[in-house]
Amino acid sequence: MQNKKESTRQRRQELFDSSHSQEERNEHGQFPTPYPLASIIAEDLLSRVGKNVSVLEPSCGTGAFISALLSISDQIKITGVEKDLSLYETAQQLWSSDTCHIINNDFFDYASMESQQFDAIISNPPYSRHHHLSQSEKRFYSQLTATFSGVSLSGLAGLHAYFLLTGTGMLKENGVGSWLIPSELFSVNYGAPIRKFLTQNVSLERIHFFDPENLQFDDALVTSCVAIIRKRKPDTRSYAVFTYGDFLNPRKTIEIPLKELTKLSKWQHLEGYSGEDVSSVQILGDYFKAKRGIATGGNSFFIRSRNEWHQKGISDEWLYPILPSPRTFHLPEITSDETGWPQESDTALLNIPKSSNYAALPLSIRKHLDDCPEKIRNGYILRHRTPWYSIGSVTSAPIVCTYMSRSKETPFRFIRNRSNATMTNTYLGLYPQTAMSDNELDNMCEALNNIPPEILINGGREYGGGLKKLEPQELMSLPITF
Ligand SMILES: C[S@@+](CC[C@H](N)C(=O)[O-])C[C@H]1O[C@@H](n2cnc3c(N)ncnc32)[C@H](O)[C@@H]1O
Repeated sequence: MQNKKESTRQRRQELFDSSHSQEERNEHGQFPTPYPLASIIAEDLLSRVGKNVSVLEPSCGTGAFISALLSISDQIKITGVEKDLSLYETAQQLWSSDTCHIINNDFFDYASMESQQFDAIISNPPYSRHHHLSQSEKRFYSQLTATFSGVSLSGLAGLHAYFLLTGTGMLKENGVGSWLIPSELFSVNYGAPIRKFLTQNVSLERIHFFDPENLQFDDALVTSCVAIIRKRKPDTRSYAVFTYGDFLNPRKTIEIPLKELTKLSKWQHLEGYSGEDVSSVQILGDYFKAKRGIATGGNSFFIRSRNEWHQKGISDEWLYPILPSPRTFHLPEITSDETGWPQESDTALLNIPKSSNYAALPLSIRKHLDDCPEKIRNGYILRHRTPWYSIGSVTSAPIVCTYMSRSKETPFRFIRNRSNATMTNTYLGLYPQTAMSDNELDNMCEALNNIPPEILINGGREYGGGLKKLEPQELMSLPITF
């Protein structure tokens, strides 16, 4: 009977998924949990709270978790909430009973009116990003979250963050929540108050990170983890358990003292954690400032080879050397001729000073500007720049870093720039905090390229499909020894 209902649920779910576009499902966070995964999370949860308990599923969809719970125990009392009418109807038809209530409502409306507390929560909340939430939704969700958890979230938080905090507030003392959520919550800045909450207000029983190349959802480009949280004040002498790989047979398990965990700003990649006292480690920000390169607003229009500009009649007076894209440039350093132009590349940026008057520009430049394709001319950056054709001040950095990659072996590269070349925003520039000799800069660049790949990856963020990224602040927080 249970199997038959589960097959019906899967069929209806497939129908729903195929009749809604990826964009719609992204906006509403509608990516169901595959049944085998729902089963192992449900088994784990009930092993922590027992089988005769009340469980809340705050965004139940068609009920993958409900189905999994019912296949393990018929003594559970379940409350499932779902906002979408058609998903609710499927869940209601399949699972509703004396002990299983399915409610068609927005979870936050439900939470604001419900006084019941639960022994357990099981959830794969919607991962809707903040720009899909209206100002009034954000206001309501964050007020409620603050009431339930005492945590105030920034306007950049995704919907899942509000679910986690409000849901945890609906647990009985000692109750447990299992949350299938995006791993990035444990790295991004808006997750910081949640990480603090998890170390100071509740007991973190386990966080399991799935491998990025092993996405849990066929169709959502998100790396996920399961956070298991008990509503009980933490014992400050205790450890948090992080596991990696397979949920049942983790490839790696590490235990980190809570005291140390509170000092770590990112928890997404602690696999290489060595127990070192993190407060004594020197970071790159002690030596450098990082700044993203320039956004031209249309690289194909503003960047050409120096030769091509010359052929158009545009002389060096109006050009500035710029590094080629990291996709085509693979050398470890850029040397300079006596005028500051790189020897290894002749890529050049059209660099018209802000003070230049269009009418006073040489004919060759005016002709190029007049030929600017509509698409570029009407782009956001050019529309908001005065004058639209002037990039503004450009600088060169003595070390530049590529900060996006899929490679595990060489995720990010550091290039020693001895020329005047500036760079686009596909690079981060490293600017020394105090004057450094060429020799010191050479040593720094070598040390940076010797940072083990896992430390570089751990310091940044990783998206589903294995795309790795390092933001300026993350680059500056990298541990470094010279
Ligand atoms: C990621 S899906 C997971 C569904 C189900 N929990 C599962 O594991 O298969 C999230 C669900 O949350 C629902 N949802 C989105 N916003 C909601 C809200 N404010 N309140 C309740 N449900 C919501 C979506 O319609 C979707 O069914």
